[in-house]
Amino acid sequence: MFMSTTRITRGRRLSRTHRAIGAGLAGFLALGGVTALAGTADAATTLASAASAKGRYFGTAVAAYHLGETAYAGTLDTEFNSVTPENEMKWDAVEPTRNSFSFTSADQIVSHAQSKGMKIRGHTLVWHSQLPGWVSGLGATDLRTAMNNHITQVMTHYKGKIAAWDVVNEAFQDGGSGARRSSPFQDKLGDGFIEEAFRTARATDPDAKLCYNDYNTDGVNAKSNAVYNMVKDFKARGVPIDCVGFQSHFNSASPVPSDYQANLQRFADLGVDVQITELDIEGSGTAQATNYGNVVKACLAVTRCTGITVWGITDKYSWRASGTPLLFDSDYGKKPAYDAVITALGGTPGDGGGGDGGNGSTATCTATYTRTADWDSGYNGQVTIKAGDKAISSWSVPLTFASPQTVSTTWNGTPSWDSTNTVMTVRPAGWNGQLAAGASTSFGFTVTKNGSSTAPVIGACTAS
Ligand code: G3I
Repeated sequence: MFMSTTRITRGRRLSRTHRAIGAGLAGFLALGGVTALAGTADAATTLASAASAKGRYFGTAVAAYHLGETAYAGTLDTEFNSVTPENEMKWDAVEPTRNSFSFTSADQIVSHAQSKGMKIRGHTLVWHSQLPGWVSGLGATDLRTAMNNHITQVMTHYKGKIAAWDVVNEAFQDGGSGARRSSPFQDKLGDGFIEEAFRTARATDPDAKLCYNDYNTDGVNAKSNAVYNMVKDFKARGVPIDCVGFQSHFNSASPVPSDYQANLQRFADLGVDVQITELDIEGSGTAQATNYGNVVKACLAVTRCTGITVWGITDKYSWRASGTPLLFDSDYGKKPAYDAVITALGGTPGDGGGGDGGNGSTATCTATYTRTADWDSGYNGQVTIKAGDKAISSWSVPLTFASPQTVSTTWNGTPSWDSTNTVMTVRPAGWNGQLAAGASTSFGFTVTKNGSSTAPVIGACTAS
């Protein structure tokens, strides 16, 4: 939450900003394939249906413990036709102690997905992170046995249910070396552990697609070159690999690369499918929407780009929540990025049944004023902004104060003043600009009366 403080001192205003705290989805039963949804009039108005019309799936990471939330499950079921358990299939979740397997949470996601005819991506079998301590304590011989046992047990449990497995995740270093990342597997088993994992995986479930998955490999760079060379070698030697996952976690420090499509294409040209596996793009409004649209267009331009998975449904539960990187805001309202994705997929934004992001054509808002506290020398006011029948990405409202009142503090809004120091226009604090259709937010302020208790005049709320 952000708090803005504005003080008027002898005609001078000092401003500071503080960060105070930090369906009916039919088809899709064919593993590894995409089936068009049942033809209905609104067939291209959800992420799943629009992607399906282009022969792709549109998935999301899912956390089992949110499935009981109506809006979460409702948005999932309406908008997506593929799921990836966000944490529930990782080693620490399914085999916390050696050879003792626990599939309860992962099973919950698998059952939900199956009941809705959704595809399931398995994530992930061999990864240096979220690895229980007992694994890293093993010697080489034991570790090889444990790795192969883990792959075999987990894949056998889900045999026939998983379309694609991230068999090995994030095995290469960042930076310019192109080297393997240090991990118990790499350090004790050497370069061959990846090949061994893929061979064990193929032997266990020959029908599941087997993927290598990584981040910072989205453009052409030393890391992606290293992965490329590994995949090329695997294909040349007949090591079983079917797909490469590009996580695609983007933000201002790691933007969508200009050669994103070219990079996907060069991997596809090796004879593997490519998948966008953990997409999220920090930002908001038009800039975020443009980036999302470009990612979708890149996938569509590559024939073997078989689908896109976003790393979560709502900003509320994103691993990078403060960066608001997903397609639905914290109230499950559809963001401009959502519309951009649907449009890039050739669908029609605004008519879908998911979320409550608003279907109207004009961005509107209303502003309602309340005096929330009053004392001899001052009062607190609160203005509640409510979006109209369309989701909005920003708002502003002018307040005119009676002279000689001054405003000492504002919160949950960003104030600016006219030259007479009587009209304060308040805009979002940075986190509360985007509102789903009909959703509300409030900002507040403290006024020093200086002898006048007159209420401020609240001007028209303007939305965009
Ligand atoms: O469930 C516990 C909870 O009981 C506890 O109170 C809480 C306290 O920290 O932790 C909870 O577990 C957290 C878990 O997410 C579930 O929320 C872990 O601490 C936290 O480390 C874990 O983070 C996950 C992260 O992987 C771990 O590396 C994120 O949710 C998950 O989105 C993220 O996903 C990874 C992909 O698997 C691989 N690619 C990168 C991606 C983002 O880091």
